[in-house]
Amino acid sequence: MRIMSLGYLRLESPEAKEWESFGPDVLGLALSNDPLGRPDTVLLTNDDRPGRLVINVGEQNRLRCVGWELPNEGDLADAAEQLEDAGVSVHRGTAEQCRAAQVRELVSFTDPAGFTHELFYGQLVVPGSFRPGRAMSGFVTAGQGLGHVVLIVPDLAASLDFYRRVLGMRVSDEIDSHGGRLVFFHVNSRHHSLAIMGIAGMRGLHHLMLQVGSVDDVGMAHDLCADQGIPLAMTLGRHTNDRMFSFYLRSPSGFEIEYGWGADTVADEEQWVVTHMRSTSMWGHRPGGAPPPGCLEPVPGTPAS
Ligand SMILES: [Fe+2]
Repeated sequence: MRIMSLGYLRLESPEAKEWESFGPDVLGLALSNDPLGRPDTVLLTNDDRPGRLVINVGEQNRLRCVGWELPNEGDLADAAEQLEDAGVSVHRGTAEQCRAAQVRELVSFTDPAGFTHELFYGQLVVPGSFRPGRAMSGFVTAGQGLGHVVLIVPDLAASLDFYRRVLGMRVSDEIDSHGGRLVFFHVNSRHHSLAIMGIAGMRGLHHLMLQVGSVDDVGMAHDLCADQGIPLAMTLGRHTNDRMFSFYLRSPSGFEIEYGWGADTVADEEQWVVTHMRSTSMWGHRPGGAPPPGCLEPVPGTPAS
């Protein structure tokens, strides 16, 4: 399966409307228009693809869908067939679903943790359209997609097997941290587009990482959080595996945003060697005072930790 990048995320949140100011004013994202004109939907982007981040008003803070980009119609058809061969139910997106997602075609399925994913091709691009919501240099997306997501899964082994064997993602490395195991996957030169962490009985979106073009963009966002009283989940620090310099802020919807700069990439897939590490950070990334993540939900039928 030829997944090329993390294309979009769709979320549900009672606080969706707060993103109309939080997204542009704090993160530097651009607001875009919902193609269906829905008043309860906020669209944001970090590049020339207006459909990157879709937040619907809803009852709970919940990740509704992770969208993965495939190169073309033929690869999408092949991917749907491979999922069905692996015993996974696949649903073809309706014309309205494709219009809402601003893609030519999509298929959806549910992974072992219960997350909904969409595979798509033909995402809308409006060249030269991106204007950051505040003064900043912009975001790193070219060839690397929206950013990365870290998901909490109830059964790490089952999810690891699925993402690697069925979706064809490549393991970048692993980190043993706080008695748990994190596994990082890449689908392009970004060190990881997805990482998973096992917590028995739970699932949810831990964070979305947005990579900015300059170290000053990180510093300015850090100042904005201090000025506006936005809680930090983790202080400034540098990660061990992708060497990202970042901090984590709490979004209005419970999950965290990692706001980072300067990550290493997988420059040569052929030469990549999987390693494991004992901590997530070389320095920093200390608890920042925000309450525990509010975007996790219990998974029925699995034991609570
Ligand atoms: Fe991250």
